[in-house]
Amino acid sequence: MCGIIGYSGSYSGSFCAQKILLDGLEQLEYRGYDSAGVALQGENGELFLRKKAGRVSVLREACEVAPVNARCGIGHTRWATHGGVNDVNAHPHSCGRVTLIHNGIIENYHEIIAAFGFAGRLHSETDTEVAACLLDYLYQGDPFDALRQAVDILTGSYAFCILFADQPGKIFCIRNVSPLVAAHNESGSFVASDLTALIAYGKSYFVVPEETVMTLSAEGISICDLSGKTVQPEILTVDWDVESAQKGGYPHYMIKEINEQPEALQNTVRPRLRNDLPDFSEEGIPDALLSCCENITIIACGTAMYAGMVGKALMEQTVKIPVSVHIASEFRYDTPLIDSRTLTIVISQSGETIDTLAALRLAKDCGSPTLAIVNVKGSTIARESDYVLYTHAGPEIAVASTKAYTVQLAVLYLLTCRLALLRGCFSQEQGQEFISALLSSSEAMEQMIRQDQMIREAVKMVKRSDHAFFIGRGLDYAFSLEGALKLKEISYIHAEAYAAGELKHGTIALIEEKMPVIALATQEKIFAKTISNVREVRARGAAVILIVKEGAQVDPDVYDIRIDLPVRKDEFAVFPAAASLQLLAYYTSDAKGLNVDKPRNLAKSVTVE
Ligand code: F6R
Repeated sequence: MCGIIGYSGSYSGSFCAQKILLDGLEQLEYRGYDSAGVALQGENGELFLRKKAGRVSVLREACEVAPVNARCGIGHTRWATHGGVNDVNAHPHSCGRVTLIHNGIIENYHEIIAAFGFAGRLHSETDTEVAACLLDYLYQGDPFDALRQAVDILTGSYAFCILFADQPGKIFCIRNVSPLVAAHNESGSFVASDLTALIAYGKSYFVVPEETVMTLSAEGISICDLSGKTVQPEILTVDWDVESAQKGGYPHYMIKEINEQPEALQNTVRPRLRNDLPDFSEEGIPDALLSCCENITIIACGTAMYAGMVGKALMEQTVKIPVSVHIASEFRYDTPLIDSRTLTIVISQSGETIDTLAALRLAKDCGSPTLAIVNVKGSTIARESDYVLYTHAGPEIAVASTKAYTVQLAVLYLLTCRLALLRGCFSQEQGQEFISALLSSSEAMEQMIRQDQMIREAVKMVKRSDHAFFIGRGLDYAFSLEGALKLKEISYIHAEAYAAGELKHGTIALIEEKMPVIALATQEKIFAKTISNVREVRARGAAVILIVKEGAQVDPDVYDIRIDLPVRKDEFAVFPAAASLQLLAYYTSDAKGLNVDKPRNLAKSVTVE
């Protein structure tokens, strides 16, 4: 949440740093888009501050009225936490000689205001401005010393980029939990919340280590720990390019990412196959981790958690191992009933979701071995968990997750297969058959995406409604949770998923004439039961969009629109079903003229609690 960028260099051109910061902020805008700002520093330390409520485009317009030709600056795009959305609360914040941008939350800002008597100095309602005042108060000409003292006082999560008025051309950075990556090339030094803002400038980068002070200048980047000792960061190479982080001819990132799913699935599965069976030895995951655990706990948020729900249903039915799924923000304050016999799996696209990270730390404290399924390389969750399996979706920019969900599922399917082989639930042949069905799921998704006529028909029905229900049983219920989330977050239609058999225990009272009910009935063993539940809602006037496997025998009286999934095996219906539900949400949002990629109130990476 919040995107930050800094640049110090020799870039030539009419208004160099300004352009780099604004371009970078546009790439980072998916992290937050309430307001944006830049601070540019002249050769003698003079400061040019521009900040605006609204999108980066509003800031860009304001900057272009009076361009600043500076070689050093910092920029921020905000997702509001403390204080409303207005120009004053936008970052950067200045106090005396200090100007800074911040991603995270300073939890003890009230105490700091009281302890240091800052109330009269503040202009905004933000926690961030308090940090600027604190640094100005502590600063005696040595930025390192001021930052070291500030770290002892500040509590919470933060990534700061700081300009000091008497240190022209230098950006000082420090982080705790909130992410920062940095890179240097012949044009200068760059720092940002994530790689999407830096990819245009090269393929090498590093994750800024926590508890260090990093100094950027045109000449290079230096890092030292809080005792002053030099730290050498581990240099990483990006395995995707600028095009991957752009729309590539699609009108929105979301539809581009929906289309990328078949390839992402292959990229995630194939490198892990030996003899057509999953093998995680190259990733350092011992078989004992899977064969010795007595139960599994899956922890995640939002879409990643719904991928976990599918994982639970699949693992329990295939391997007969107890699996529990937890919302990370609840798990961390519950009484965790786990120990060394539990394998904890955390799932996160960004690898930075603060609740998931805290839950991971708690699981480790309980002695549970931890395995992370993460998309962003080198992210905090990936680094802190005992074992990691990366998903290979490439950058996911649209706020609504699509391809990350699919590849999270792919890894859960691989894990299920390995568990089943190790625990004698699958023979080699059964394992190979399972993997072959998993690989062919990408074809099923492709076909679903190509043949979207019935989905477009369904959109006409859904877009007029204020409410929609998704129903299903077993695995179908697990998929429908994600379908409902997708629809509500980008089309603002109130959507809920219900286990189909549970409807008549209360919820069916809400069914009225023409209410869209998206019913999933892809699971053979409960097919007839689900269809009876569909009849119950149809009898009460619901407009039924029925999603079934190709060839399923269903009386046409039961539905208004039927969507056929090109799949034979029940366990693999989730892949084309996910594509169909994502497309339903996408076309509905687009038909309503909404901002598909940046829905209101949301941000991509949730680094606040
Ligand atoms: C919804 C969505 C969110 C994320 C959730 C977890 O489309 O994207 O629900 O799934 O915020 O984020 P990660 O996976 O980054 O931990």
